Amino acid sequence: MSIDIKETIKRMTLEEKAGLCSGMNYWQTKPVERLGIPSVMMADGPHGLRKQEEDPDHIAMSGSVPATCYPTASALACSWDRDLVEEVGRSLGGECRAQNIHIVLGPGANIKRSPLCGRNFEYFSEDPLLSSELASAHVRGVQSQGVGSSLKHFAANNQEFKRQLTDSQVDERTLREIYLASFEGVVRNEQPWTVMCAYNKLNGSYCSESHRLLTEILRDEWGFEGFVVSDWGAVNERVEGIRAGLELEMPSCNGDRDNLIVKAVQSGELDEKILDKVVERLLSVIEKAFRCEGEAPLFDADKNHDFARKAAAQCMVLLKNEDDLLPLEKQKSLAIIGGFADCPRYQGGGSSHVNPARLDNPVEEIRKIAETKGIAVDYSEGYPVDVLNERYSARKFESVSDVPDQNMIDEACRSAAKAEAAIIFTGLPEPYESEGFDRRHISIPAGHEKLIEAVAAVQPNTVVILSNGSPIEMPWLSRVKSVVEGYLGGQAFGGAAADILFGVVNPSGKLAETYPMRVQDNPSYLYFPGDGESVKYQEGLFVGYRHYDSIDIAPLFPFGYGLSYTRFSFDAIEADRERISDEEEVNVTVTVTNRGEREGTETVQLYVRCPDYPVQKPFQELKGFGKITLKPGESGRVVITLGKRAFAYFDEKIGDWRAPAGSYELAAGSSSRDIHGTCRITLIPSRVEKIIYTRNSSISEIYMSEVGKSYLDGMSEELQKQRGMTPDRLISFFKDMPLRSLQVLAGELINEEKLTELLNRLNG
Ligand code: BGC
Repeated sequence: MSIDIKETIKRMTLEEKAGLCSGMNYWQTKPVERLGIPSVMMADGPHGLRKQEEDPDHIAMSGSVPATCYPTASALACSWDRDLVEEVGRSLGGECRAQNIHIVLGPGANIKRSPLCGRNFEYFSEDPLLSSELASAHVRGVQSQGVGSSLKHFAANNQEFKRQLTDSQVDERTLREIYLASFEGVVRNEQPWTVMCAYNKLNGSYCSESHRLLTEILRDEWGFEGFVVSDWGAVNERVEGIRAGLELEMPSCNGDRDNLIVKAVQSGELDEKILDKVVERLLSVIEKAFRCEGEAPLFDADKNHDFARKAAAQCMVLLKNEDDLLPLEKQKSLAIIGGFADCPRYQGGGSSHVNPARLDNPVEEIRKIAETKGIAVDYSEGYPVDVLNERYSARKFESVSDVPDQNMIDEACRSAAKAEAAIIFTGLPEPYESEGFDRRHISIPAGHEKLIEAVAAVQPNTVVILSNGSPIEMPWLSRVKSVVEGYLGGQAFGGAAADILFGVVNPSGKLAETYPMRVQDNPSYLYFPGDGESVKYQEGLFVGYRHYDSIDIAPLFPFGYGLSYTRFSFDAIEADRERISDEEEVNVTVTVTNRGEREGTETVQLYVRCPDYPVQKPFQELKGFGKITLKPGESGRVVITLGKRAFAYFDEKIGDWRAPAGSYELAAGSSSRDIHGTCRITLIPSRVEKIIYTRNSSISEIYMSEVGKSYLDGMSEELQKQRGMTPDRLISFFKDMPLRSLQVLAGELINEEKLTELLNRLNG
């Protein structure tokens, strides 16, 4: 199908144009049959399809068609694997086509500002590069299937508390370098068909009516070609939204706000040309949605389930493994403990809730492998589990696992004491984190903690497997030998956990966020979530490891951390050039060797440091990463390319990125706290910027220029003679003063006329 867009717009009535700017119902756009404009259907994602056929809503109260439930973004991010995430996107895109869905709502590229955000399980990382790279891979995968993505929630939607009203107050540099950077790469490189604007305000304007955000930044600067859709119900003033660049209001407004658009055009308040542009953008995506030729693929639930298992295993992070307890090879009997082993927690609550086509039972999956090895498996519940039914009305909201059940704990201990190892499945019950509300603390239920302590006291070989969407505190960590972070691993979490436990898969996941010792250590702690009217991002650039590493606070587990059943060494780190300009790139090669006995995969992380940076900057920032799989004894190379952005900051004065001259350290590591080697490069900007000196330029700035230096040296000699001050003393005394203050301090040496003459020479 193809639409002659210009011609169609000419033939559309004003009412038809306005009508196209809002949904027909909960998920579809309005068709205009007389002109052959079809209706586009959207559905939630992004870790699985949520296509609702009846009773539509956005908090998954009613059911949806069975679909593959993949690990959520917080889990996927731990793979640090662009290819894997792209494949998840492809598989999701395929299911969308099979279900006649044209646009899938996701992925979410919001930054994890605080571990308390209830929706962190849907977001990738605290780091904008990692988040943007993985969101890009997701979009690439989905869109390769002829299905559009909707990159969300644009922008600075980093909490659930009063998300529809609160004003995120973020300074420009932080916005550009952290919060927008996570979206920018995705838009520039992948052109998602749509971007979903967030509910909240950003620096005083609702995102749904911010011209700066939706037009100046998104389109004019980043070149976005698709349309912007409102988050469901995010529209405030519709006509303002049209002017700002918000094309589609979702869900349906029952024609109400379409009328406002019509009236605004009729009264001259809104130029029809602006509306035409909006319609043009809508039509170009609608056209694309129906351009996809060929048979839609069939939904192969089993094949996708196998892939979901592979994906989940790639995402698991081995946090601790004392005495190499894992993989389980020697033990002949296992006590599997915890309600999550029988009734797993594998996805988050809210609009992304998927009705899984299959669902692994972890105990059964463990039994299947154990049987082949002659290992006996006993299961005990350990704590009661909140009952989760697919129909929301039947879901329990209060958590029954808050209160320890001593009988269950005693039974679990008896089972653990008899076995050769205990595996405890624990984490956060669904009511502890969800879209729609934030967490108040980062503890797991008291009942779970007590169970871990009690079991570990009777069984030295205790393994903990965690299911949670975001970080938790672990006061029990020293009592157990092994910990596997499974995050929310999707429908095949159970099988993947079994694969990791028995070493069918060697763990290679790395944390995509810092686990703090205490929630209070998080940089946003004092400013999160604001008073409901506004939330000030006062920690600025110092989000996640940028904070912990800059002020050297020990985290529980650092950003990028994760163990393996093998060991790697980083043997060399080399840059292919010593000097670059800001228009060139440098290739950094890191050689890695597998020094253990099993095949394994390592993620090389490249951080850039510059202690002498001219403006405040975190101690180090991730600027590249790559994965490598190596057989025992094998070496291989990971090459990471860095360009201007890796060295730049957003300079508000010029409204652009600037990479300052300087010497930069490139640090390669297996986490932000485990750096194995460094090398240096020097950056020389291609253009020397002309500095304009004024009466208020500082003495030290002036001293940097040749003219200024010779003038000031002369003056300082004179002052030394007159006042007997040492040169050091003089420098530290005067360096931060404005030029004009020299008149006050050394009036006899410089008067107004001489000062103007000096400025003329400096600027000449
Ligand atoms: C969520 C979006 C979601 C939409 C539709 C909103 O409440 O914030 O992420 O795509 O509902 O369900």
